[in-house]
Amino acid sequence: SNTAEEQMYRPNFHFTPKKGWMNDPNGMFFANGYYHLFYQHYPDGNTWGPMHWGHAISKDLIKWEEQPIALYPDKDKYIFSGSAVVDTHNTSGLGTGKTAPIVAIYTLHDMAKEKAGKIDVEQQDIAFSNDNGFTWQKFEEGNPVVKNPGIRDFRDPKVSWDETHKQWIMALAAQDRIHFYKSSNLKNWEFASEFGKNIGAHGGVWECPDFFEIKVEGTKEKKWILIVNLNPGGPNGGSGVQYFVGDFDGKTFTMDTSFAERVKNEKAVWADYGKDNYAGVTWNNVPTSDGRRLFIGWMSNWEYAQQVPTTTWRSSTTIPRELKLVKKGNYYNLVSTPVKEINNYVAKTIKAKSLNGKEINLIESGKADLTQAVVSLDLKNLKQEDYTFTLSNTNGESLNFGLNNKENYLFVDRSKAGKIDFSDKFALPVSKAFLEGSQKSAAFKIILDKTSIEIFYNNGEKVMTEIFFLNKTFTSLSIASKEKIEVNNLIIQELNV
Ligand code: FRU
Repeated sequence: SNTAEEQMYRPNFHFTPKKGWMNDPNGMFFANGYYHLFYQHYPDGNTWGPMHWGHAISKDLIKWEEQPIALYPDKDKYIFSGSAVVDTHNTSGLGTGKTAPIVAIYTLHDMAKEKAGKIDVEQQDIAFSNDNGFTWQKFEEGNPVVKNPGIRDFRDPKVSWDETHKQWIMALAAQDRIHFYKSSNLKNWEFASEFGKNIGAHGGVWECPDFFEIKVEGTKEKKWILIVNLNPGGPNGGSGVQYFVGDFDGKTFTMDTSFAERVKNEKAVWADYGKDNYAGVTWNNVPTSDGRRLFIGWMSNWEYAQQVPTTTWRSSTTIPRELKLVKKGNYYNLVSTPVKEINNYVAKTIKAKSLNGKEINLIESGKADLTQAVVSLDLKNLKQEDYTFTLSNTNGESLNFGLNNKENYLFVDRSKAGKIDFSDKFALPVSKAFLEGSQKSAAFKIILDKTSIEIFYNNGEKVMTEIFFLNKTFTSLSIASKEKIEVNNLIIQELNV
């Protein structure tokens, strides 16, 4: 392998396969002390190819250990995205008695049929594991469990246990709709309903849905969230992750009326407004004693994923995030924050109570390792001005991001952040996340790794995730505006993962 590339680009704490191509996270569940992560993987090349399910495990969602490949494709039968459930009561009958069987549901994509111009190229198959998810067997005698009904794009089943209606529920992307299916045994599936006509963004095909019930923060109210990945047609071009909030009666998902209003006003509501969070879905079987809804995305975008300047491997995941549903008045918002386990890796903390000026050095050159760091701060008494953060190095490269408080948006501009010429879609236009109005104060939490920035605005009310490829690492961070800036509670945490 290429040492310079390893040193410059291999993330410190975002998962990457040692070798080969990766796209969507797949089949995540928690069992027996481990968070399992599978992923779309082509081990023999650094672009998309015959799809396998790669596998990694973690005890804390931060440190990952790659495992042997979980699922290999048979000739021309690519293993596309899907999910996995712990079948605690052996409803599938696939268990052998010792531990609960784990059942993976994925799309089998037939390349031979595709080349022959056929429509019915995608069907849903299952595989099972009787050793807590480490080795897998395809359910040869029973596949497919959902046949293709004559829809070309018919994939990415997300299955989970619906505790409210005591059934297995599947959300499946069918062209640019979601189809719901239900089952009592994971083998026989009954079509339940369709969602999506004239709702939300439809700039491309709908892919990789997720569907789960969640408590509204601080209340007893429960709602259902439907996550729908979309490519192309994302908020800043290419791939993006939108979501819907509503109710589910066991068969049909109905959007909440106030959220439907929001979707109409905003055209679509996104879980991330950066260019690099795609195919994100959540973990199954997280213990109720923990109770978190945990999400991870693929930190790239189909517009340039296969051109980014790494050769040994391509792509990484986002930092795992906790999702919460917050309601203010009638306004539902999905909030994401980095998982708290990241705090266990803080090696050094630098703090400053308050700083003032039109240009403030938040981190002077070389004062902190910005290849693994969390930076948090609050801005107070904001004016209707631009507030621009700049990450920079001694090579003249910089990443600008921040708040345009005149036109009311957050932005990330990577046009001067190192290598950008591998794709004309990568740097421009500048990514934006529009806010409801001009802001009086603002809180930022910024997660930095060698090739990524993840910006959590106002405790995760809005998120922007973007990658970059520098020739030298960033060594300083500053903020500038035409007006005096008041920075409070600056905390720089250097990590050691
Ligand atoms: C999303 C996706 C899925 C599909 C997989 C194939 O990125 O296109 O819809 O299952 O990738 O690798």
